[in-house]
Amino acid sequence: MSEWTIGVIGGSGIYAIDALESPEWIDVDTPWGKPSDQLLTGRLGDVRFVFLPRHGRGHRIPPSEVNARANIHALKAAGCTDVIAISAVGSLRDELPPGHFVVVDQFIDRTVARPHSFFGTGLVAHVSMADPTCARLSALCADAAEAAGASVTRGGTYLAMEGPQFSSRAESHMYRGWGCDVIGMTAMPEAKLAREAELPYALVGMVTDYDCWREGDQVEVSAVIAQLMANADLGRQLVVELARSLPATRALSPVDTVLDAALITASDARD
Ligand code: ADE
Repeated sequence: MSEWTIGVIGGSGIYAIDALESPEWIDVDTPWGKPSDQLLTGRLGDVRFVFLPRHGRGHRIPPSEVNARANIHALKAAGCTDVIAISAVGSLRDELPPGHFVVVDQFIDRTVARPHSFFGTGLVAHVSMADPTCARLSALCADAAEAAGASVTRGGTYLAMEGPQFSSRAESHMYRGWGCDVIGMTAMPEAKLAREAELPYALVGMVTDYDCWREGDQVEVSAVIAQLMANADLGRQLVVELARSLPATRALSPVDTVLDAALITASDARD
């Protein structure tokens, strides 16, 4: 058992958490370069939070240029035990309208232009991504989102696309055919890197639009921005509710030690 320190990655529309007590923006560096912004540390009651705006304050960083390795490294080094990400997403389902929240539990990764691992030549690791999100943290986030007043779907598949352009109609229909529920440009490789960093990860998708698969719909940035501003208050309130509802102590998660079974060492490789 230990204490929680919750890392929060805020997506489009969430650039700070005003409710944090003793807030402090701290400058950090990592072996992978600078994270998207300074880290905002503080507490909500007994729980320590470390917040990072994924696109930087002022929304300066496009999806393909988010340094996810630096972001995850920075949160780990700041002592985070778990990470929740709150992201704007497009909907691929009639029943997930703009304003709705989806606590994602699967991903299909179609990103192509981003470093996807902390490992490489010299240190080889293969972590399991069969269950890419933490069920315990996801349930806590879904409960907190409902307590904040959001309508929430528990579970769903997130299609991670490279962007920055939105999808063509053919792509949007294909993703629906693949069983995807929401689409976004940022949760990958973030979720993979969180797993490699042994950080349980949950992703709350806040729906801003219907993507372009619906007859007559196409994605317009002005409508996306208006909806994400409307969602952002609920997203921030979710964090407050999460702090209220976390169990007093944190039981260990299997993700805490996932590398124990994932690193290929010299002795494994002996003939
Ligand atoms: N983020 C919000 N809406 C999106 C969409 N339709 N496609 C990709 N990313 C998004």
